Amino acid sequence: MEWEWSYVVWSTIIIVPTLIIVFFKRTSCCSYKLPPGPPGLPIFGNMFDLGTLPYQTIGEWKNKYGPIVCFKIGSIKTVSILSAKTAAQFFKNHDFAFAERKIRETMLVHDYNLGSLAIAPYGMYWRVLRQICTAEMFMHKRINETVQIRRKCADDMVHWIEKEVKSVEVKGNGIEVTRFVFLSTFNMLGNLMFSRDLVHPGSKKASEFFDAMMRIMEWSGTPNISDIFPRLRRFDLQGLKKKMHREMGKALEIASTFVKERIKEREEGGEKKKDFLDVLLEFEGTGKDEPEKLSEHQINIFILEMFLAGTETTSSSVEWALSELLRHPEAMARVKEEIVKVIRQDKKLEESDIDNLPYMQAVVKETLRLHPPLPLLVPRRAMHDTNFMGYDIPEDTQVFVNVWAIGRDPEFWDDPLDFKPERFLNSKTDFKGQCFELLPFGAGRRMCVGLPLGNRMLHFVLGSLLHEFDWQLPSNVTPKTMDMKERMGMTVRKFNPLTAVPRKTS
Ligand code: HEM
Repeated sequence: MEWEWSYVVWSTIIIVPTLIIVFFKRTSCCSYKLPPGPPGLPIFGNMFDLGTLPYQTIGEWKNKYGPIVCFKIGSIKTVSILSAKTAAQFFKNHDFAFAERKIRETMLVHDYNLGSLAIAPYGMYWRVLRQICTAEMFMHKRINETVQIRRKCADDMVHWIEKEVKSVEVKGNGIEVTRFVFLSTFNMLGNLMFSRDLVHPGSKKASEFFDAMMRIMEWSGTPNISDIFPRLRRFDLQGLKKKMHREMGKALEIASTFVKERIKEREEGGEKKKDFLDVLLEFEGTGKDEPEKLSEHQINIFILEMFLAGTETTSSSVEWALSELLRHPEAMARVKEEIVKVIRQDKKLEESDIDNLPYMQAVVKETLRLHPPLPLLVPRRAMHDTNFMGYDIPEDTQVFVNVWAIGRDPEFWDDPLDFKPERFLNSKTDFKGQCFELLPFGAGRRMCVGLPLGNRMLHFVLGSLLHEFDWQLPSNVTPKTMDMKERMGMTVRKFNPLTAVPRKTS
């Protein structure tokens, strides 16, 4: 009897509170009116539905569930915005509520998240870095002052391509164009940051930095189980965090030697370079609600971030633009004709010519509409529970603004799947964050801060390639058989890198 009594008491003590907690958890969870979405499996949610190109799968859900869908990737609640109208509501009325990022596990190594701008929490430190970027680094005047750097790097690129064509028996097989574009954009950023070429056969440090950065880009684009099931974080099942820790450590160490060299030069009264590194070293905050100076570690991380954010995005866009032009010979002929008309063949294409090349600008817009390098932007995070267009979005939900799907929204685009640069001629549609049907650089507070530079590099590199060379497909490929498969890594790239045959224009 005594045993039975104590059993009842203990059961009550344990079971009743548990039931109360479960009840309240259930009711509070079920009282949310979430956007519709595909049913998912217990534990795994919809992760097996997403496939290798998740932005496409999610984009297709719009037909069934409408322009806002909700689903789970493992245990991560996720909402995706799939139409231009919904994106307009999101950025105009709710940008603040979603101004933070969902942070990947690999980005926590070496406290990267604490020095980064792209994944910094929405707050004072982010504001300071953003202000440095907009007021000092990417302002119009500064970009104009650094035009010679990009000129030199584009000249190098042309020279490398010429050499490759001569040294390799091309015989109609073509070269991998993007390799040269990538190295050139990497050097453009290297020179803007440190006033030095980072892809340089003579510099061991520079090539080690390049190698480490390449691996960081690879690891940061690899899906990680730790992000899908945060409870498994500590096991680092794919070893990605460990690898990232190693490569990030190397890159930071090399960046740090460059920074230290510069500090020494400045102390010895060396000439001021006025590159991004000098801007960062000269930063003086009030010390009240912002730091007095940026620490060396913060500077190193910021430097790495510029490479991470700027190289793949720009070079993959050039690759897609050239691929689309090769697939559409009439567009290629038109853009070449425009360039020939505006720039004499014995002259080089200059950045100042870009304003006079409206068709080339249209080619770039059309490329970014169909192939945004970051099709889901950099994922946002709900800072608190938010009501969005009649739906409840719980705090900490991950948000994908699917600009790949939005660029194909039939409500805004005629023949959305066709490559037609003409649609942008005599049109005011731009990608500066005000036209919600075209958002390759995002919009709102967290919009791409490097847009003025990325935009300039993209047009200039593409224009130089088109001006200096005539491009053809390898002899065994035609515009119709050309492979346009996509691959999702840090950015969306061509699955098989573009191979094309350049012939120097006479
Ligand atoms: C074709 C070139 C580029 C494209 C398409 C692109 C695209 C983007 C996108 C979609 C975002 C996220 C926006 C959002 O969440 O709303 C972003 C953020 C960012 N981009 Fe770019 N980007 C490009 C070039 C660059 C360059 C050249 C740099 C700097 C060197 C840069 C630096 C950044 C940074 C620092 C952020 C984070 C901004 C923040 O969180 O406040 N980007 N970019």
